[in-house]
Amino acid sequence: MHVEIRQACSGDRDAIAQFLAGLSLRTRYLRFFTGGAPVSGAMLGILTGSRDRADAIVATENGTIIGHAMAIDTAGPVAGAHIVEIGVVVADARQGDGVGSALVREVTARAQTRGATTVLMEVLAENRQVLAMIVRRWPAACHTRSGPYVTVRAEMTGGARQPSPGRRAGKEAGRLEPVNQDPRRPAMTRA
Ligand SMILES: CC(C)(COP(=O)(O)OP(=O)(O)OC[C@H]1O[C@@H](n2cnc3c(N)ncnc32)[C@H](O)[C@@H]1OP(=O)(O)O)[C@@H](O)C(=O)NCCC(=O)NCCS
Repeated sequence: MHVEIRQACSGDRDAIAQFLAGLSLRTRYLRFFTGGAPVSGAMLGILTGSRDRADAIVATENGTIIGHAMAIDTAGPVAGAHIVEIGVVVADARQGDGVGSALVREVTARAQTRGATTVLMEVLAENRQVLAMIVRRWPAACHTRSGPYVTVRAEMTGGARQPSPGRRAGKEAGRLEPVNQDPRRPAMTRA
């Protein structure tokens, strides 16, 4: 089992569409706030990182996409602030193996390279796993509840945390290769 994380490209469009179509309704809902897969050409373009100020990465295993993360850069309200909104999703069968943590680490590291100062995530309030993950990664993160959603905002100071070993005891998480350090203009989207 060999897991690699690399930048997404326009050639990944069909593979990303297939990956999203293969997710459970629950996983798609937690990521996109709707059970439907994002299928429009424009949306798939964003998910491949082809949009201005968008960055997208994929985790692959034996060439098959098993995870996706993206980031979209915006200017903050305060001069000099650079906000990056991120979103991440991992194939149901590979959740709990450390892939999601590796994607978050990579997509935020790439954003920091571009100068991002703040990370933003829109998460369903019922998504306890992700909220707990965020608190562990960014303990000082600020949470704002709005109906069923929580907006989490955290300052990205210092280096990224060390890789999560994965949650499933006894299961090989696979070796996560560092992504090619060639960040394009930065990176999110909801269907
Ligand atoms: C959220 C998600 C991307 C995490 O990816 P993953 O590969 O399953 O996560 P990892 O194995 O890297 O574990 C991430 C963290 O969650 C914890 N975790 C994993 N599975 C868990 C579970 N079932 N219950 C509680 N915690 C869990 C891990 O211990 C780890 O904690 P750490 O970062 O403090 O070490 C994945 O579960 C997913 O695709 N969920 C649906 C989409 C979603 O919710 N996206 C986030 C909103 S944009």
